[in-house]
Amino acid sequence: MTDAGTNAGKLRGKTAVVTGGSRGIGAAVVRAFASQGANVAVIYAGNREAAQEVCARCEAEYQVQARAYCCDVADFAQTKETVAAIRADFGAVHILVNNAGITRDGLLVMIKEADFDAVLDTNLKGAFNMMRHCVPLFLRAREGCIVNISSVTGLIGNAGQCSYGASKAGLIGLTKSAAKELASRKIRCNAVAPGFIRTDMTKEQAENPLLQMIPLGEIGEPEDVAEAVLYLATARYVTGEVLRVDGGIAM
Ligand code: NAI
Repeated sequence: MTDAGTNAGKLRGKTAVVTGGSRGIGAAVVRAFASQGANVAVIYAGNREAAQEVCARCEAEYQVQARAYCCDVADFAQTKETVAAIRADFGAVHILVNNAGITRDGLLVMIKEADFDAVLDTNLKGAFNMMRHCVPLFLRAREGCIVNISSVTGLIGNAGQCSYGASKAGLIGLTKSAAKELASRKIRCNAVAPGFIRTDMTKEQAENPLLQMIPLGEIGEPEDVAEAVLYLATARYVTGEVLRVDGGIAM
């Protein structure tokens, strides 16, 4: 029997919002939360079927409420409406995971302005947008927690990933500033910095030289990241932390 089935899930009674929750790391986070009894709001950009499938599986396997919302996190007005809809549907929001992210890689001298902007708008401003609308709910409820999905590229850089690295380093600054600002209200904000994880985002990167530099010698799985996110979502005394889940790449 699952934790949720025994009514003993660590997150029973909580509502978690996960952006980009229809596949990859986001879908693994949604499942991990649901397995601990959380109700989940899954934000997806385009693939409605995939998002609904993730929700249906959570409801069937863990007897939680799960609902999918189409929203471009880069769009301030859309995120405002979506957070309001989630609040209306679930009554409250307790956990926000900013996982939605894109890459538009290219060498600095080649990269197009529009590509740079798209990466910053989705990865960094998207997280800000969601935080901007969720934090007032956390303040009113006197509880809340945020986990931002950064990257080792934000910690150590990677050639050809200036936009992505800037967005992911920016997320760390956003995380730590929010953690300091919100700590007195018992709202925690942490980040996870994954290395190479087996998802759609990395399937074209079999040749990436960074792969040879993984001390643990293998690519990570979405569930490895989800485990860290679940830890940070429940770690009462941890805030402003950046937890690497990278097989040792950035140590
Ligand atoms: P993925 O490409 O499989 O999933 C990304 C998700 O974000 C998708 O569901 C997509 O629809 C959603 N998304 C993209 N733009 C969006 C937008 N504007 N609005 C709403 N949703 C949007 O990628 P993956 O690998 O699961 O990555 C998840 C997060 O983890 C990303 O932030 C990524 O940067 C980060 N990450 C991934 C690593 C990896 O090796 N896969 C390594 C380090 C960080």
